[in-house]
Amino acid sequence: MTIQLYHMKKLFIIANWKSNKTVKETEKWLHDFDDGVKGGKTRVGGKKVIVASSFVSLEHARYCMRNLKLSVESAAQDISPFDKGAYTGEVNGAQIKEFANYVIVGHSERRKNFGEDDDMVAKKIEMAMKHSLIPILCISNLDQVQSSRFKIQSYDNRIILAYEPLFAIGSGQADTPQNAESVAAKIKEIVNDTPVLYGGSVTSLNVNSFTKMPSIDGVLVGGASLNPLEFLEIVKNA
Ligand code: PGA
Repeated sequence: MTIQLYHMKKLFIIANWKSNKTVKETEKWLHDFDDGVKGGKTRVGGKKVIVASSFVSLEHARYCMRNLKLSVESAAQDISPFDKGAYTGEVNGAQIKEFANYVIVGHSERRKNFGEDDDMVAKKIEMAMKHSLIPILCISNLDQVQSSRFKIQSYDNRIILAYEPLFAIGSGQADTPQNAESVAAKIKEIVNDTPVLYGGSVTSLNVNSFTKMPSIDGVLVGGASLNPLEFLEIVKNA
């Protein structure tokens, strides 16, 4: 009799709420999500579910997650490229670390609307690492992986990459799973075993076509994560 060992990948399912939801709405989402989990709609176990709320919701999100004993973790959506000091409006790594273990870095909306370039992204990755936050680095093409390559490798791959093609973000037109798989495989050739997620118009209907691909380790979900019931379905179907 031969015993086959399957390497089960642990999927990351990450909600990116962007500039949405007040503290009250955050609380309601978490309670609705929890009702779904406790009501048996979805098993979160075995998957790493992370919610990136806005800075102002992070503290209460953590309180609710603990209170409900929900196996969901928090991420921030951005980080200051500087440590504490005279940087009006910025939120630094030490402040984030009080409430979250992950931080999204280099999202294309930040690159496009706030002029973030590769140097700025590199500084943010450095700050995340300094404060023991795991960066979820968003990239929309392989050039961006190449330019962050040394930074990623110097941190021993303790980083998560999310491939998000620009045409697919918020458009309802996801990339094909085959193309996403081929980009994810190329990313892994550049940065070894770093987990690679796909992001861009992921829904409960298409999530599995991505997560079943061998090189894709999960999804980063924007619009469809705003509704807790849809997000429950995404976690379930992934
Ligand atoms: P979307 O956003 O799911 O709304 O396309 C994804 C993202 O920008 O992270």
